[in-house]
Amino acid sequence: MSKEARLELDGKVFTLPTVEGTEGEKAVDVSTLRAATQYITLDDGYGNTGSCTSKVTFIDGDKGILRYRGIPIEELAERSTFVETSYLLIYGTLPTRAQLKTFSDLLTRHQFLHEDMTYHFEGFPTAAHPMAILSSMINAASCFDAGLMNWQWGKNQQFDIYAAQLISQVRTIAAYSYRKSKGLPLIYPKQSYKYTENFLHMMFSMPYEDFEIKPEVVKALDLIFLLHADHEQNCSTSTVRMVASSQANLFASCAAGVCALWGPLHGGANQAVLEMLDQIHRDGDDGSKFIAAAKDKNSGKKLMGFGHRVYKNHDPRATIIKKACDDVLAKLNISDPLLDIAKKLEEAALKDSYFVERKLYPNVDFYSGIIMRAIGIPVEMFTVIFAIGRMPGWIANYKEIMEEPKSRIYRPRQIYTGRTLNPFVPLGDRK
Ligand code: SDX
Repeated sequence: MSKEARLELDGKVFTLPTVEGTEGEKAVDVSTLRAATQYITLDDGYGNTGSCTSKVTFIDGDKGILRYRGIPIEELAERSTFVETSYLLIYGTLPTRAQLKTFSDLLTRHQFLHEDMTYHFEGFPTAAHPMAILSSMINAASCFDAGLMNWQWGKNQQFDIYAAQLISQVRTIAAYSYRKSKGLPLIYPKQSYKYTENFLHMMFSMPYEDFEIKPEVVKALDLIFLLHADHEQNCSTSTVRMVASSQANLFASCAAGVCALWGPLHGGANQAVLEMLDQIHRDGDDGSKFIAAAKDKNSGKKLMGFGHRVYKNHDPRATIIKKACDDVLAKLNISDPLLDIAKKLEEAALKDSYFVERKLYPNVDFYSGIIMRAIGIPVEMFTVIFAIGRMPGWIANYKEIMEEPKSRIYRPRQIYTGRTLNPFVPLGDRK
């Protein structure tokens, strides 16, 4: 028998059931609250509200724990690949050799866009942000597929193919948007290349010369994709679930996720971090001026890449990426002053009571841009890289809500604080 919560309201006592997850997380189930009490809950920013139960990812913000389907992120970072981890997130278990080959072959088979998609790229201005292109082109890609245009919610036999198609084509769209922004000819994927190396090939090869695919660069980018692959009910994943709950198709729901991710408080932070570090470098600031500004509410500045709604301890992804920064830059024989500035900022902030009291630590975005810059990814593509990485997590959450028999449309309530009854005034009578 689960514990009950007792709520006293207007002289009456109501009992509400509680829920406990497999990792001991507890919730009061308020799904009957309004019918029983005429009250709803109000929770700005959903900081105390669980939107769903999920089996995909577990985070313990106090202990700095992140696990995909129960496997610690540190083990996956060390021993797995982005494609294998994508399978794990979507299907719930690590693939057998045969399952991995089938999945990998599906990714290869669906890596080309419909050739008519290339005309859509022509329509974008050169300065268009690749996140705007990515979101619109994911929806455009769905227009070329009757199954997506007539989406069958529930036991969708084609789901595996659409999931692989989306994971594969998001990479092709991203590379094409970069080539378009530089006025470069599109480079088509190679059948012989695997996921991450094909992305680098499509981004940086030329018709007359293939880009040199360095193993350490492939490994570093694959790690970045893997570390971004899922993160429970963050802003963009919640957006995907919100759109999915209306039974919109997989591509439309993930295209909405791209838009939510773009914001500088979310996935857009990795681009904002590099712009912040570059500004500090150009100002000749040792970081102290910027930290002072980040603490001043009137400055409009934040220490980008710092803080997190859930992690009140180190973001384990930041720890892994920080170490990878040193490894990759050493292997590529690069010394980047922005990495030195980032390390100094972290050191100074973690000694500063403002950040310590608010439990603000580096998050996944603080160091990721340093690696991406070192391997030649342009800063305007940083959030696109995040979106490529997060795609399997969005798909896993979409699949979960689609296969949940009791899933219903997300429709939060509100507390109205506007004008009460307010009769219409004809134009001639208005002052
Ligand atoms: C991601 O949800 C996820 O899991 C997201 C993500 C994922 O994988 O999907 O982990 C990816 O989005 C990481 C976060 C990237 N964003 C940034 O790095 C932007 C900078 N960070 C902040 O904007 C902020 O920390 C958030 C958005 C990450 C979290 O915001 P919250 O939980 O709403 O916290 P808050 O804004 O209420 O901050 C609490 C206090 C405030 O001060 P007081 O009002 O208490 O005086 O901390 C301050 C804030 O002003 N604060 C910061 C700060 N972050 C919070 N002050 C300066 N610099 C910062 N970065």
